[in-house]
Amino acid sequence: MTGKLLRGRILSFSRRPQGPGDAGAYVYLEDGGVLIGEQGRIARVADFSEFTGADVAVIDHRPHLITAGFIDPHIHFVQMQVVGSYAGSLLEWLNTYTFIEEQRFADPAHAARIASLFFDELIRHGTTSAAAYCSVHAASAEAFFAEAEKRNMAMFAGKSMMDRNCPDALRDTPRRGYDETKALIEKWHGRGRAQVAITPRFAVTSSHAQMEAIAALAREFPEVPIQTHLSENHDEIAFVGELFPEHEDYTSVYSHYGLLRPKALFGHAIHLSAWEKAMMAETGAVAVSCPTSNLFLGSGLYDLFAADRAGMRSALATDIGGGTSYSMLQTLDAFYKVQQMCQNRLDPLTALYLITRGNAEAMGLADRVGSVAPGKYADLVVLDAAATPAMRVKMERISSLAEEAFLLQTLGDDRAVAETYVAGQPVKSKLAAH
Ligand code: GUN
Ligand code: ZN
Repeated sequence: MTGKLLRGRILSFSRRPQGPGDAGAYVYLEDGGVLIGEQGRIARVADFSEFTGADVAVIDHRPHLITAGFIDPHIHFVQMQVVGSYAGSLLEWLNTYTFIEEQRFADPAHAARIASLFFDELIRHGTTSAAAYCSVHAASAEAFFAEAEKRNMAMFAGKSMMDRNCPDALRDTPRRGYDETKALIEKWHGRGRAQVAITPRFAVTSSHAQMEAIAALAREFPEVPIQTHLSENHDEIAFVGELFPEHEDYTSVYSHYGLLRPKALFGHAIHLSAWEKAMMAETGAVAVSCPTSNLFLGSGLYDLFAADRAGMRSALATDIGGGTSYSMLQTLDAFYKVQQMCQNRLDPLTALYLITRGNAEAMGLADRVGSVAPGKYADLVVLDAAATPAMRVKMERISSLAEEAFLLQTLGDDRAVAETYVAGQPVKSKLAAH
């Protein structure tokens, strides 16, 4: 037998829906087949009946829904043991817990253990790609990329650069941050499915000299992604104003150092002025909203529709460990509620688009992942909207795809992920049961 054919209901987006009735934005096959071909890429997607006679092994996922794997464009792999730390707000949370915990990653054995657990957790939740922050220690990024390579997963990551306003044990220097990031790029960027992200933690923890070194990296590697934090919390914004008084606002600091560009992911970006939004829009930089984190730390509400009106690009992420769930479905639940508080009505199919194709576009990966289409990697999730007793009884009242998607985001979590495929291989069912 050659190849493998997945059977189930298939949903895949080709663009962001313009509203709840925009069926032109997606393909939905009631009884579809996904043929997996060379190197774990999708060879063909069609009605199952069109595959009759094909010499392939059929894996029947009916009645479940097969979509692209979820993508999490902002997550801290070094914060697995920070999740749920009791703090009033961002800076207290960073100083009291996060900057303490991250010091443990000086130990490569600890980094390797957490990296393995981290990838298990992503897979369990149906997340097949992510943009991850490692600690300041280059060895933590080594551990991350080694584990990602073992799992054949498409990942962005970078060692955090930080040389002030944090404990001594977490400080690098402008030179060291530059050298270690460059060495990571040379070793890992483009190796297998890995991409190295230039990762200044945020303007608070980088001196002017370090920002210059980061600007040099960004110039030297124009295709390499960038990730950092922006405008999450009012005290943080005021602190950046004190540290960089020569700049008009927080976004202008990053703009000055040449960090605003299409593959640059700015976590949070909640409290932007009209001018800052215009800079984001003009440069194609991406705001990555992290709703469970923003609610947990009381940071604020990201207004998606206002960002849309400003022409900004938006993505959606967990921000573990400020965030409180690894599940992109639970992230959608929180995002929906945040939009409600902003008087925005986010329809469930647009929501599902955001965590699949939308996040793939944000990371510049839409040519490879984010949809169920020929040529893309078979990075997929199989979703069971009746995974729990509460979901099962609610399913009795569900009569449309949009309602099913809404149920998945409202009550769904890792239990609703029946299987996760990475490059055509089933990986969730292979995890050791814990
Ligand atoms: N700003 C700078 N570092 C962090 C972090 O680790 N988490 C969050 N949520 N915000 C940050
Ligand atoms: Zn973060």
